[in-house]
This record gives sequence, C-alpha cells and structure tokens, in this order.
Amino acid sequence: MDRTDEQGIGMKIYQGVVITLEVIVLIIKMYATWFYSIYKFFVPPEPKSVKGEIILITGAGHGMGREMALSFAKLGGIVICVDINPTGNQETVDMIKENKGKAHSYFCDVTSRSSINEMAEKIRKEVGDVTMLINNAGVMPCKPLLQTSEKEIRIAFEVNCLSHLWTLQAFLPAMMERNHGHIVAMSSMAGVIGLRNLVPYCGTKFAVRGMMEAIHEELREDPRDFSGIKLTCICPYIVDTGLCKNPKIKFPSLMKILSPKEAVENIVDAVRREYHEITIPSSLYYINQMFRIFPRPVPLHIKDFLDSGLEAQ
Ligand SMILES: NC(=O)c1ccc[n+]([C@@H]2O[C@H](COP(=O)([O-])OP(=O)(O)OC[C@H]3O[C@@H](n4cnc5c(N)ncnc54)[C@H](O)[C@@H]3O)[C@@H](O)[C@H]2O)c1
Repeated sequence: MDRTDEQGIGMKIYQGVVITLEVIVLIIKMYATWFYSIYKFFVPPEPKSVKGEIILITGAGHGMGREMALSFAKLGGIVICVDINPTGNQETVDMIKENKGKAHSYFCDVTSRSSINEMAEKIRKEVGDVTMLINNAGVMPCKPLLQTSEKEIRIAFEVNCLSHLWTLQAFLPAMMERNHGHIVAMSSMAGVIGLRNLVPYCGTKFAVRGMMEAIHEELREDPRDFSGIKLTCICPYIVDTGLCKNPKIKFPSLMKILSPKEAVENIVDAVRREYHEITIPSSLYYINQMFRIFPRPVPLHIKDFLDSGLEAQ
C-alpha cells in the first residue's frame, strides 16, 4: 500500500466519523425539538401583543376579514382594511372607529399587482410600514369542475392564490429590513383534503399552504436573520359567512358550522401565539394527520362515513 492509498483510507475514515457525528447531532436535535413541541402543546406560548402593529387585512369588508379587523383593532392594532367592496370596507372602518380603534380604508382589487403596489406606496406614506399582512380575501366557485367557467377558475386562482404573491412582494421587503413582521394566510380544510364541487378552490387553497411552507423555508435558509418574521396558515372548515352556500354536515357536534366570531377567536389566538398552521376546529388537524398514516383508501371510508362537504350552488 503506497502513501496515496493510506491518505485515501484516512480520508474515508475521517469522513465516516464526521457523518456519524452529524447523524448523532441530528438525532439529538430531532428528539429535543420533538420533546419541546410536546411540552409546547401542553404549555402553549403566551399570546403576543399586537398593540401598535400596522395590520393589513385583505377582504376586510365582510365575513372573517371584518371580524379579524374588529378584533385586532380592539387589541390596539392599527388596521388597514382592504377590499374590492368600498361600502363593506368603510362599514368595517366605521365600526372600528366607533369603538375608538384605529383603522384606514383602502379600495383595492387584489388580483391587480399594479393596484397592490400603488396601494402599498400610499400606505407607506400615509400610515407606515405594514408589519402584519393578513391575506384573507377569497372567492369560492362551488360546482362540478365541468360546469365551472374559465373565468370563474381564473378569478379563483387570482384572488385566492396569486394575490398572496403580489402582497408578499409588496410588503415583505420592509419586514425583512427590520426582521419584524407576521404573514397570515387563509387557506382552508379544502387545502388539506380534496372535496367535490371545489376542484379549483381546493387547488387554490392547497397552493396557499404550499406557498406558505416555501416562503418559510426561503426565510429560514437565508443567511441573514429573519427569525423575527412569523408565518401562520389558517385552515377553517365551514364558517357561516355566506361564502359556503350549501353546506352539508352529518355530525354537527363534531364538525359544526362556526360563526365568524368563533372562527376569528381561534385565528387571533393562533396569530398571537405564532402558530405555524391551525385548522378550525383544531381536532381536524390531528384527525387528518392520523388518517394520512393509513393507505389511501382507508381515510376515504371515514370521509364517506362523515359525509359532509358542500353541495353545488
Ligand atoms: N367561510 C368559510 O367557510 C371558509 C372556510 C375556509 C376558508 N375560508 C377562507 O377564508 C377567507 C375569508 O372567507 P369569508 O367566508 O370571510 O369570505 P367573505 O365572502 O365573507 O368575504 C370575502 C371578502 O373578500 C373580498 N374580496 C373578494 N374578492 C376580492 C378582490 N378581488 N379584491 C379585494 N377583496 C376581495 C370580498 O369583497 C369580501 O369582503 C377566504 O379566503 C375563504 O376562502 C372561508
């Protein structure tokens, strides 16, 4: 064996030791994080204050957007209400002001990237940098795919999904500059499981969860420190806002239709505790995780048994 062979063997042993140590560190980290997560499950983090935060909510003129605007304003946030419906949006702002809260109304169609950028510039000058972005505006065509028009499909993707990318591009840079911010995205249980009559809608809501996971990784893996930017993805089941026209629920005690107020209590709590993702009701998160372990046809039996979803409009 010559000197080069000895060096080669030495290098291989060294690499083997390094990999073994890395694997040991990885296992320790995984167990430590796992135990910490179990601890956090029983002892949740304290809710953070949102006082003085500049909180932009899209779709604030109705439903959960309005409820979130009222709740965050009550907690001392400066709320920027954004909607394509100026009347509903102004009503939300008036309700906040009646309660001595701080709110501003901006008309914007979130499907238009240029309108979002113009609005962002105005907000920066008139109010300041947005520190919490809540992408909530949404539409729901509810019918079999073959009866859904091209226009309905395109609008669903533009409102529910692409608009999140435009607002992120507009508001994330200021959060990155200060390493401070919170991005909240409205997905849905229809972004966790596929449901009939909701093919494009499910596509948009699965996409929202994917985008949130990816932006989380983009920030986490950046060499700069962006640990001060938090992300929360919300997956409600059915909330009584009028968006879901024909809900069908076999076991209302298990999967009850919530009022916007009840749903928003959960949302505000999740945002303040900086949870990464929640379902509403929370039990659905664990039910879904559990049944995903089984082969694909097994959870379908449970789904058929629960027999709930949305009938076509
Ligand atoms: N209601 C539910 O059961 C339910 C369940 C799961 C997820 N979600 C999601 O939660 C979010 C809020 O739902 P909701 O039930 O409160 O809806 P909603 O219909 O009550 O309110 C949606 C708001 O978005 C606004 N909007 C629609 N298109 C817009 C656009 N192009 N630009 C700006 N604003 C626009 C509307 O004017 C309206 O004020 C949506 O993303 C929805 O998909 C709702």
